[in-house]
Amino acid sequence: MTFTDKKNSRIADADVEPMFTDRWSSKAFTSEKLSEDQIASLFEAAHWAPSANNRQPWLFVYSTDGPDREKFNSLLSEGNARYVPNAAMMVLVFARTVDDEGNKIRTSHFDTGAAWMSLALQANRMGLNTRALGGIDLDAAYDVAGVPRDKFETICGIAVGYRGTDDDIHPRMAKQNFANDRKDVSEVAFNGKYS
Ligand SMILES: Cc1cc2nc3c(=O)[nH]c(=O)nc-3n(C[C@H](O)[C@H](O)[C@H](O)COP(=O)(O)O)c2cc1C
Repeated sequence: MTFTDKKNSRIADADVEPMFTDRWSSKAFTSEKLSEDQIASLFEAAHWAPSANNRQPWLFVYSTDGPDREKFNSLLSEGNARYVPNAAMMVLVFARTVDDEGNKIRTSHFDTGAAWMSLALQANRMGLNTRALGGIDLDAAYDVAGVPRDKFETICGIAVGYRGTDDDIHPRMAKQNFANDRKDVSEVAFNGKYS
């Protein structure tokens, strides 16, 4: 078996579309910018995700450069700050968790996860790399993005850009920067009953 991406030797046990194993989250980004059309395609894909009652509770606030991007970068944990500023775009992801009547929207995180995955797969098809980022200041993200705390929850950030090489990141980081594996499907999918 030969792999076109030297950092990705994932093999699926069952027949799946290659996009599922091709996508992986590199920490290496080049400084190449994204066009407005590319950015539009990413959020277009995300917003076709399914959601309970078609509520579409996801909210994305993004920045590419300038003072806004500085503020986005300031949210990053120490580890993430070592590589995310290289990425062409950073996205803050929120989920609307309370509806207009004040009721909790139970599935909003699940729905927002579906939208993130749509964005990630679309990005991969466009030759771009994404990496979700739980390591951000979740509270400060509200103010940076201008999002009200009473209706939304901060979920994570996303770094998006062109995939770099080992030369684009610290050598220690580069060593561990490859497509990781997964548990066996038999550990996570059960017929009829768990255990
Ligand atoms: C919600 C979420 C939060 C994550 N947070 C971070 C993070 O803070 N920093 C980081 O480098 N990677 C982060 N990751 C990336 C995961 O480590 C990565 O997706 C996982 O190891 C699976 O690898 P893959 O995306 O290459 O398939 C996060 C991923 C998700 C989905």
